[in-house]
Amino acid sequence: MLGNGDIWESFDALRMMRATGCDGVIVGRGCLGRPWLFRELAQVFDGREPELPPDLGTIVRLMEDHAARLVAFFGEREGMLQMRKWCAWYTKGFAGSAAVRGALSTLDTLEDMRRELARLDSAEAFPLVALRAHRGKGSRSQRVALPEGYLDALDDDTPPRSPHGAEELAAWEQALSGG
Ligand SMILES: Cc1cc2nc3c(=O)[nH]c(=O)nc-3n(C[C@H](O)[C@H](O)[C@H](O)COP(=O)(O)O)c2cc1C
Repeated sequence: MLGNGDIWESFDALRMMRATGCDGVIVGRGCLGRPWLFRELAQVFDGREPELPPDLGTIVRLMEDHAARLVAFFGEREGMLQMRKWCAWYTKGFAGSAAVRGALSTLDTLEDMRRELARLDSAEAFPLVALRAHRGKGSRSQRVALPEGYLDALDDDTPPRSPHGAEELAAWEQALSGG
């Protein structure tokens, strides 16, 4: 059984696994612009301390790699349109990013992005206050809920009963939607 919802830092995963007995976690919004979260998860699952998040220079190199891959796959126009939102997520919380945020949100070319990113201070450390900054469509935190009776029978793999009726189905979809 996998837990899901509000995994922003590696310790959130440990906390959820301890509290619910789930075998692992699914990460949604927490990895948007924070792909190193998976390295941290691997480290804490191994019983090690997680590394500190990268500085801005390292993130800029990641962004350039990400953008180059998007452009190779989608072409420059579509790739850079998609990259605009990733730019906002990657740079969220860095003091120096405010000056280039506007330009990054209207990017058309890879060259535009490189030019704007070159204006940033590559030595700026990751702002720890931004670790839990919400990203993605649903900016709210979600209430964590287990299926009824889940903790009473951890070895029981029977799937929960499906919803009956339109109203119950709508309530399920509401509870599950997040991305
Ligand atoms: C980029 C993104 C794409 C997602 N796509 C789906 C999807 O296709 N189907 C789905 O059921 N949930 C999808 N979700 C929802 C997540 O699986 C997850 O349930 C939700 O984001 C809550 O977890 P979080 O707090 O870690 O974001 C998506 C979430 C994100 C951020």
